[in-house]
Amino acid sequence: MLAIFVCLVFCLVLAFLLLASNVSISAEKTSSPPLLIISYDGFRWDYLNRTRTPNFDHIIKHGVYARRGLVNVFATSTLTNHWSMVTGLYPESHGIIDNHFFDPDVNKTYIPLYQNWSAVNDPRFYDTGAEPIWVTNQLQKENGRSGSVMWWGAENIVKNTRPTHHMPYNLTIESTYIIDTMVKWFTQDSGINLGLLYFSEPDHTAHQFGPDSDNVTQMIGKADELTGYLFRQLSRNDLLEDMNIIFTSDHGFASASKENLIYLDKYIDPSWYTVIHYTPVAAIMPKPGKEDIIFEKLKAASTDNHFTVYRKKDIPDRLRYRNNIRTPPIIIVADITYNFITNMSADQFKLAGNHGYDNKYEDMHPFFLAMGPSFKQGVEVETFQMVDLYPLMCRLLELQPAPNNGSLDVVSLFLQDQQNSIWTVSAYILSLAVIITLGGTFAVASVWHYCQKHKSSELGFGRTAARIHSFKDINAQYKLIPDEEAHDDGL
Ligand SMILES: *[C@@H]1O[C@H](CO)[C@@H](O)[C@H](O)[C@H]1NC(C)=O
Ligand SMILES: *[C@@H]1O[C@H](CO)[C@@H](O)[C@H](O)[C@H]1NC(C)=O
Ligand SMILES: *[C@@H]1O[C@H](CO)[C@@H](O)[C@H](O)[C@H]1NC(C)=O
Ligand SMILES: *[C@@H]1O[C@H](CO)[C@@H](O)[C@H](O)[C@H]1NC(C)=O
Ligand SMILES: *[C@@H]1O[C@H](CO)[C@@H](O)[C@H](O)[C@H]1NC(C)=O
Ligand SMILES: *[C@@H]1O[C@H](CO)[C@@H](O)[C@H](O)[C@H]1NC(C)=O
Ligand SMILES: *[C@@H]1O[C@H](CO)[C@@H](O)[C@H](O)[C@H]1NC(C)=O
Repeated sequence: MLAIFVCLVFCLVLAFLLLASNVSISAEKTSSPPLLIISYDGFRWDYLNRTRTPNFDHIIKHGVYARRGLVNVFATSTLTNHWSMVTGLYPESHGIIDNHFFDPDVNKTYIPLYQNWSAVNDPRFYDTGAEPIWVTNQLQKENGRSGSVMWWGAENIVKNTRPTHHMPYNLTIESTYIIDTMVKWFTQDSGINLGLLYFSEPDHTAHQFGPDSDNVTQMIGKADELTGYLFRQLSRNDLLEDMNIIFTSDHGFASASKENLIYLDKYIDPSWYTVIHYTPVAAIMPKPGKEDIIFEKLKAASTDNHFTVYRKKDIPDRLRYRNNIRTPPIIIVADITYNFITNMSADQFKLAGNHGYDNKYEDMHPFFLAMGPSFKQGVEVETFQMVDLYPLMCRLLELQPAPNNGSLDVVSLFLQDQQNSIWTVSAYILSLAVIITLGGTFAVASVWHYCQKHKSSELGFGRTAARIHSFKDINAQYKLIPDEEAHDDGL
């Protein structure tokens, strides 16, 4: 009888242990580290050598780094690339083909918020089926909450979902206030597990003074200082060690000048077309009957005037730009450092730097760094695709990615070896089997031994003499359970 009791207690302890381990396994599964992605607009891949950047250097040393930055998407403009980062889709698949675009179904041109802070755009411009990371986070995770500060596109309702918190585009807000707000969202009750943070520099300064200016160098230093401020605020809240943080950007930069202007009016009559967006990718909407003549004139001029013209159907596959209703009948793409002007004089052209060019130019590529518990330390790769960021973020947050054009091939090189859930489950089953086998053997042995003893006591010393009074007695006989784990009390 005692052996059966012992066995029962043993099984109860086992069940308790298994339950406990089961609970801790499922807790592990639901608590992937929080993720913060930060975009410094127009931060070219090679800007880090321009000035002292101790905070970025720290990330390179203790995190991961793409030495030649990311291959971004065409057109290398701000809205397009911010939307590819969070959806993993090429522009032809998400529809935000440039900062301005015309949608024939909506029958309207999209107005970016930098042009009019209070512009009210049609919801169909963004809700095209593309799924940004905060929607994936909030639809899939029971406690998935997201916060966005000025992230391009995050003001829109997509799949009936908005980020849990969103601070709208407003360039007069202090950067430190922005960081404080983000940290507060992470630390408050019902805090977020995903944050998206946008800074408009060094882009703004590079447009005004050129990417090679001292002014941009200063802004690079400022971005590093802001990064330091963020680290201090996170550290003060005990978050820095536990959080994955991605630092990246939408595009790089090239110089622009009045010397490198292409006067479209020299080749095509302004009355033949309207233009949606005009440099360095001009979206040409021909008036009825004018498409052929526009194309022929531009084709002839393109040979020695630093630009390329494409009819929609002939846009090369590699640009991932053709298969969308918003792609205009004709696009013209300026060579790097060149810009189109139409309907204006050179004096009216004010840019000292620009971007938006073909993504084949390395100068258009943005930087990439990341750090946190899921990343290896001090690992560098050459480059990878911007569309890989979405599947990377899904992996970090343990989400099932929506259909996308990215891949984990390169980014998995700098992820810590996963607590692979398949491995965890098989390890769990294996240990269960071992414990049951051991426990079973022990129980059978106990019963057998008890019976033997019982028998012998009946034969010789009498029942009472053979009675086992405690687990300690069993320990003494079997040496199976260490003393400290054996409890008399229950008997
Ligand atoms: C930055 O400077 C280091 C050291 O001089 C050099 O090895 C590295 O190639 C530079 N990186 C870039 C992107 O210029
Ligand atoms: C598109 O909008 C314009 C005015 O902006 C209007 O004249 C035209 O009829 C509209 N087209 C369609 C198909 O609704
Ligand atoms: C900005 O957008 C608002 C809302 O659509 C509109 O009322 C306003 O006239 C626009 N402002 C400019 C300068 O276009
Ligand atoms: C931008 O922020 C400033 C300062 O916080 C505020 O006064 C202003 O109303 C905001 N503008 C818009 C358009 O939200
Ligand atoms: C840009 O840099 C130049 C030269 O370093 C400096 O004189 C000027 O004040 C700067 N402008 C701004 C707006 O920072
Ligand atoms: C050129 O400017 C005139 C007047 O400002 C405007 O009516 C016309 O639409 C413009 N043409 C193009 C092609 O931008
Ligand atoms: C990109 O992904 C979308 C969604 O899965 C798909 O429809 C499209 O064909 C993909 N594009 C390429 C070039 O593979």
